[in-house]
Amino acid sequence: MKIFFYHTPELTPVQNVADCAIAIDVLRATSTIVTALSVGAEAVQVFSDLDKLMQESESWAPEKRLRAGERGGAKVAGCDLGNSPLDCTSELMHDRRLFMTTTNGTRALEIIQASPSVLAAALINRRAVVDYVVSHRPETVWIVGAGWEGSFALEDTVCAGAIAHSLIADLNCTLEDIAGNDELTGAVALYDQWKDDLLGLLHHASHGKRLLRLDCQDDLKYCAQTDVLDVLPIQREIGVLVKNG
Ligand code: MLT
Repeated sequence: MKIFFYHTPELTPVQNVADCAIAIDVLRATSTIVTALSVGAEAVQVFSDLDKLMQESESWAPEKRLRAGERGGAKVAGCDLGNSPLDCTSELMHDRRLFMTTTNGTRALEIIQASPSVLAAALINRRAVVDYVVSHRPETVWIVGAGWEGSFALEDTVCAGAIAHSLIADLNCTLEDIAGNDELTGAVALYDQWKDDLLGLLHHASHGKRLLRLDCQDDLKYCAQTDVLDVLPIQREIGVLVKNG
């Protein structure tokens, strides 16, 4: 198995696909997707384009849908929700489809959607992602960070490192055995450095600071937790993620 990490959707190759592709947006799109599915959302359908989301969701009965829209960390006018995982209650989500667009995370999912196996990962469901990879043993794995508008993000990189760190332990191999590129080695080093203070790292992250300015400190606390939800979002059809199993 070779694992490649790409810091942003923009840096992800477009000419071929991986056997298994994993999108990460710790702050906060993939944390929100995991949470929505954990409390009973029927599925999460992702869009990079707001107009397409509005068009597609229009054909769903209002009581069967929710629209989540975020730009720049803030809620988009006309949507039911922004992008806080803490808004995902079972009363709200139960049996509804969440139509979602965010600044970067939904683009990361879009860029890998042609892969035979597409997963959404965050720190909160790291263990579920690792278990899937260990049991399916794909030959090539791409991990794609959402980043921020084309730039590197600490929180996505540390999560890629956390996934690789657990895979190395579970597969009983070395970093050298599985690292497909230098970015993965860097991600593992970042995780090694910060694994005991992930919340502290999120406070250093530029998007973490942006969310703090928007008064979202509880979101940072929630998203910094590791392995708290045994939920794996997996793509069932293009752009539609459901709970695996
Ligand atoms: C994104 O896609 O960039 C985000 O998830 C931003 C956020 O809502 O925190």
